[in-house]
Amino acid sequence: MAPKHQAPRGTRDLLPDETALWRMVEAQARGVLERYGYGEIRTPMFEDYELFARSAGESSDVVQKEMYRFRDLGDRDLALRPEFTAGVMRAYLEHGLGGRARVHRLWSMGPVFRYGRPQKGRYRQFAQLNCELVGSAASGADVEMIALFVDLYEAWGFPDLTVLVNSVGQPATRRAYGDRLREWLAPVRGQLGADSQQRLVTNPLRVLDTKDEGDLALLAGLGTMPRLVDTLDAEDRAHWDDVRAGLEAAGIAYEIDHGLVRGLDYYTRTAFEVHDRSLGAQSALGGGGRYDGLIEMLGGPPTPGVGFAIGLDRALLVLEQRGVRADNSRTVCLVAMEGTRAAATALARELRREFAVETDVDARGFSAQMKAAGKSGARWLVVLGEDEWKRGEVALKDSETGAQVTLARTALADALRERMRDRGEDR
Ligand code: HAM
Repeated sequence: MAPKHQAPRGTRDLLPDETALWRMVEAQARGVLERYGYGEIRTPMFEDYELFARSAGESSDVVQKEMYRFRDLGDRDLALRPEFTAGVMRAYLEHGLGGRARVHRLWSMGPVFRYGRPQKGRYRQFAQLNCELVGSAASGADVEMIALFVDLYEAWGFPDLTVLVNSVGQPATRRAYGDRLREWLAPVRGQLGADSQQRLVTNPLRVLDTKDEGDLALLAGLGTMPRLVDTLDAEDRAHWDDVRAGLEAAGIAYEIDHGLVRGLDYYTRTAFEVHDRSLGAQSALGGGGRYDGLIEMLGGPPTPGVGFAIGLDRALLVLEQRGVRADNSRTVCLVAMEGTRAAATALARELRREFAVETDVDARGFSAQMKAAGKSGARWLVVLGEDEWKRGEVALKDSETGAQVTLARTALADALRERMRDRGEDR
């Protein structure tokens, strides 16, 4: 019989096998964030609709088509967050953080909501890891941000991703550039898809963001695209040059992508993204940039900022495709015989003060337990044979190397500790 209810379209359940990998990825990220001196900020999952509409931009897809907007029982106009930045800046102002320190480094992790068309790597509820550096207009802040961005992926085992960077200037520069783009696109205007035609009117830069194959072919057939960086004013130009020099000095590989415009309206100057081609159309693993006008737009004093968000679902998809599994190097599986079951229960309790321990609660036979241990992926196997137990001994097996030793039961915890430390896995 089919179940009566299913998870809403565009949402998914993560089962224990999957959450184990998620937790590993989250823990690795927390380590990197801590080493960069970032503090965690947790903001509500919903805010006033107006906050998101103003910050992301009325003409952005996120506001136009993707917002989970609702009225609560008190008739408030609210929306589930489609991203973190707006809420984090709202909190920054509400708590007067700007008055407490010049620079704030803030990170958040959790679900965000966008009503898009679901497909692989695109969900209506997905998770982001979001970082913001608020209070510095210096190019060094952009460079630190991009370094953190890259180092997070590196910690997850994405060794050779390239960051795409561009400068999107100021709103006025973009308006002027938009006019040049309209001219450039004029010959194919009537052939573009409906979405791009609409964008050509409201925000021509967004045409560059199209995923439509037909549109992309038309763009490719046009002559050399005018470049946004060629229309930057002197200060933005100097900032752009400094950011690139800083990235080079930091040894961060990057490519300039003149078509990179980002989907949210608040960006100024630096914009960046990371892509992974194995994801197909939804290839953006993460992105961000500078947003020097955002806090002022939300009613605060002029305050520069730069940040990014990583789409965790997409990062996890890539890791799963590559066969990365959760770290079981600290997991011990106890296998007991008929005569050692009671002892195994006590031993498991004792070891659980320090280690992750799995045991069989069903009193199954030896081979069923061994099979389950293999499936669980536990790195360490402790077998409590009846004769050995009588002698005060247990067998310890490393399931990765197959090496097995018999040792005194009293020496077991020390032996496990030592082995985990030897492998640099004592984290
Ligand atoms: P964004 O580029 O809109 O930036 O989103 C960041 C990442 O979230 C994307 O690169 C992608 O990996 C992931 N993502 C977006 N939509 C979906 C979806 N429907 N399903 C799965 N993953 C998705 C921002 O959100 C900005 N707030 C980043 C930022 C922070 N800029 C400055 N500070």
